[in-house]
Amino acid sequence: MDEVEKIERWVILACLLLTAILGWAAWDASTQEWEGYQESYYRLALLRANSEAQKEWVRAQPVEIKQLQPKEHRSVERCITCHLAVDNPMFRDAPEPFRAHSSLLVSHPAQRFGCVVCHGGEGRAVTTLEGHGQGNIRAKPLLRGEYMQAACYSCHGEANLSPKAVAAVVRGRQLVNRYLCLGCHQIRGVGGEEGPDLSAVGSNRSWLWLYAHLARPQAIVVGSTMPVFLLSRAEVKDITIYLMTLLDSRDRFRNTPPAAEQRTKSYQGEEPKEEAKKEKENLPENAAAEKFRYDGGLLFHGAGCTMCHSIGNRGGEVGPALTYIGRKRKTEELERLLRDPEEVLPGGKMPQLYLNDEQIKTLAAYLSTLQ
Ligand code: HEC
Ligand code: HEC
Ligand code: HEC
Ligand code: HEC
Ligand code: HEC
Repeated sequence: MDEVEKIERWVILACLLLTAILGWAAWDASTQEWEGYQESYYRLALLRANSEAQKEWVRAQPVEIKQLQPKEHRSVERCITCHLAVDNPMFRDAPEPFRAHSSLLVSHPAQRFGCVVCHGGEGRAVTTLEGHGQGNIRAKPLLRGEYMQAACYSCHGEANLSPKAVAAVVRGRQLVNRYLCLGCHQIRGVGGEEGPDLSAVGSNRSWLWLYAHLARPQAIVVGSTMPVFLLSRAEVKDITIYLMTLLDSRDRFRNTPPAAEQRTKSYQGEEPKEEAKKEKENLPENAAAEKFRYDGGLLFHGAGCTMCHSIGNRGGEVGPALTYIGRKRKTEELERLLRDPEEVLPGGKMPQLYLNDEQIKTLAAYLSTLQ
C-alpha cells in the first residue's frame, strides 16, 4: 500500500513538473512573436515621430499585451497587441501589421466594436497563427474578401447598405430559396424538420466548415442524409456567406441608429492603398519585424486543408488525397493553385483561402515533398 502511494506521489509530482515545463514553453513561444512586433513598431514610431514630445511618448510605451473589451461582445480581443497602429494616422502607408485602418474604424471605434465582429478570427490569441484562426482546424478563420459582407449585413441588414456591399449575401439567400433548403431546414421558425435548425449556424460553425459541408456533406458528417447539390464554386461561396449571417442572440447586434442609415448607403468599400505595397520594400533595416516563419505541416492542418484533404490515411475527403501530390504537380504550379484555385482548377470546388505570399510559398514547398 505504502509503495503504491509513494509511486502515486511521484507520478503526481512528475505530472506537475511536466505541466509547468509545458506551460513555460507555451508562454515562452507565444510571447516572443508579439514582443518582436511591438519592438519593431516602437522603432518605426521613433523614426516617424516629428517632435521631441512624440518621441518621449513613444519611449514611455511599455511592451505589453494590449486588449480591447468591446462592450457588446463575448470576450477580450488582443488583435491590437500586434495591430498597434490601427488608429494612428501616421501609419497610413506602413506595412502590416502596422498599417492604420481605413476610415471604417472612425464610424466603428475599436474600443466599442473590437475587430472580431467584422473580421472573425480568435480575439484572445496573441500569435499570428492563432489570432488569424489558422492555429488549429476548429478555430474561426478570418473572414476575408466577400466573406466580410456577412458581418456588415448582420448588423446593418440589407436596406441600409449599398447593393454592392451585400451582393454576395443576397445571392446566397436567393440560392437557399432556389435549392429548397427550407424543405428540410428551419430558419427563424420557417421550414421543414428533416435537418437541423439553421437559425444560428453562423455562430456555431466556421465559414470553412460550412463551405466544406456544402461541397460534400457526407465527407464532413458521417452518414449524413443531406443531398449533394451540384453547386458551382461561386454558389458554395455565396451560400456560405449567407449562412454566416445567421447568428445567435449573443452575436447579433442589429442596432444601426437611424442617423447612420443614410450614410451607410453610400459606402462602396475602400480601394487598397498602392503606396502601402511599395513601402514594404523601403522599410528601414532595423525596423523590419522579426519575421514569423510558417511551418508547412502546421499550416496545412491549421489553415483548414485537412478539413478537405488527406495525407496518408489522415484528413478529410471533400477534395482529393494529396499523399503523392509532389509527383503530380510542380512547386510553381502548386503556388499558382493556392494563390487562385479557380485559375488552375476551373469548375472545381477548392475554395479561395486568401493565403499570403509567405504562406503560399511554405505550403507549396511542403506539398512538393509529398512524393
Ligand atoms: C501576433 C501578432 C498578431 C495578432 C495577435 C493578430 N495579427 Fe493580424 N496580422 C499580423 C501580421 C504579422 C500580419 C501580416 C502578415 C500576415 O498576413 O500574416 C497580419 C495581417 C492581418 C490581416 C491582413 C491579412 C492580409 O493578408 O492582408 C488582417 C485582416 C488581420 N491581420 C486581422 C487580425 C485580427 C482580426 C486579429 C485578432 C483576432 C489579428 N489580426 C491578430 C499579426 C497579428
Ligand atoms: C466595421 C467593420 C470592421 C472593424 C470593426 C474592423 N475592421 Fe479591419 N477591415 C474592415 C474592412 C471592410 C477591411 C477591408 C478594407 C476596407 O474596406 O477598409 C478591413 C481591413 C483591415 C486590414 C487590412 C487587410 C486587408 O485586407 O486590406 C487589417 C489588417 C484590419 N482590417 C485589421 C483590423 C483590426 C486589428 C481591427 C480591430 C482594431 C479591425 N480591423 C476592425 C472592416 C473592419
Ligand atoms: C457590430 C455591428 C456592426 C458591424 C459588424 C458593422 N457595422 Fe457599420 N455601423 C454600426 C453602427 C452601430 C453604426 C453607427 C455608428 C454610430 O454613429 O454610432 C455603423 C455605421 C456605419 C456607417 C456610417 C458611417 C459614417 O461615417 O456615417 C457605414 C458606412 C458602415 N457602418 C458600414 C459598415 C460596413 C461596410 C461594415 C462591414 C465591413 C459594417 N458597417 C459592419 C454597426 C456595425
Ligand atoms: C433532403 C433534406 C435536406 C435538404 C434539401 C438540405 N439539407 Fe442540409 N442537412 C440535412 C440533414 C439531414 C442534415 C444533418 C446531417 C449533416 O449535418 O450533414 C443537414 C445539415 C446541414 C447543415 C449543418 C448544420 C450543422 O450545424 O450541423 C447545414 C449548414 C445545411 N444542412 C445547409 C443546407 C443548405 C444550405 C441546403 C440547401 C442548399 C440544405 N442544407 C439542404 C438535410 C437537408
Ligand atoms: C472546402 C474544401 C477544401 C479546402 C479547405 C481545401 N481544398 Fe484543396 N481542393 C478541394 C477540392 C474539392 C479539390 C479538387 C479539385 C477541384 O475541385 O477542382 C481540391 C484540389 C486541391 C489540389 C489539387 C489536387 C490534385 O490532385 O491536383 C491541391 C494541391 C490542393 N487542393 C491543396 C489544398 C491546400 C494546400 C489547402 C489548404 C490551404 C486546401 N487545398 C484546402 C477542396 C478543398
